[in-house]
Amino acid sequence: MMHRGRAGRLGARLAKLPRLLRSNVAGRELTRHARWALQGGAQQGAAPSNRLRTFFSERREGRGIWKWSHYFEIYDRHFNRFRGREVHLLEIGIFSGGSLEMWADYFGPAARIYGVDIEGACKSYESPSVKVFIGDQADRGFWQAFRREVPTLDIVIDDGGHRFDQQMVTLEELLPHVRPGGVYLCEDIHGEHNQFAAYLHGMADMLNVCQELVANPGDNERRLVNPTTPFQAAIGSISLYPFAAVIEKNASPILELVAPKHGSRWEPFLE
Ligand SMILES: C[S@@+](CC[C@H](N)C(=O)[O-])C[C@H]1O[C@@H](n2cnc3c(N)ncnc32)[C@H](O)[C@@H]1O
Repeated sequence: MMHRGRAGRLGARLAKLPRLLRSNVAGRELTRHARWALQGGAQQGAAPSNRLRTFFSERREGRGIWKWSHYFEIYDRHFNRFRGREVHLLEIGIFSGGSLEMWADYFGPAARIYGVDIEGACKSYESPSVKVFIGDQADRGFWQAFRREVPTLDIVIDDGGHRFDQQMVTLEELLPHVRPGGVYLCEDIHGEHNQFAAYLHGMADMLNVCQELVANPGDNERRLVNPTTPFQAAIGSISLYPFAAVIEKNASPILELVAPKHGSRWEPFLE
């Protein structure tokens, strides 16, 4: 009898699963033995510096900040374009108040910083440039009142209780409230089969909806046109990182996704 390798056994197992689940399992399996991911040597030591990382590294005294080190590159990648502008930023989860100071330093004096925490003592971190709200992020009524007081948000950072229900309610209540062009970042999404991650994967799937794909729409240009759903019109990207996710909104609605053909020579089997 022929010996079946790991790939063969996996193939046989997968064939029995429904198609969607099968590709999910296969994707996870790809990562399990991924020695190629380490090719080029494991990265040791410091990533390139940015002002947030420097602020954090230099914080030896004063109000505490507690962040995963790899978040600083993520922040800088998605937040840099807001620096020096009148950005309206909310961080959920204040704890010792140091991160609010870090945001104020990074974004500059025009920034409007808001903090939310369930602990009443966090009200003491309020200052002329920082407004603090006390409430439970899992309480939809709290967000209703919050939205009345803070009509504009460009950036939301959820670093609060980190439970699935809290993360989900907060996203549902605040993502529609974030301005076009704004950014929603959720921290501390931990563990395989995390429910909030699954929720985000469901959202990400909706970026791929293809409805009424129109080929060669009759204006002499050869292209495919896909009119977008309201979700695709509003959301530009969903980026997944270790323990974090970032959702970016389009600056203006994208009403169609197009795939034009440029060039004059095509393979004979293509029109
Ligand atoms: C990880 S700490 C925040 C750390 C801080 N952002 C920093 O970078 O140093 C989490 C904070 O979330 C707050 N928190 C926990 N559950 C909450 C809830 N349901 N609603 C609002 N805040 C909550 C806690 O009181 C705590 O201050």
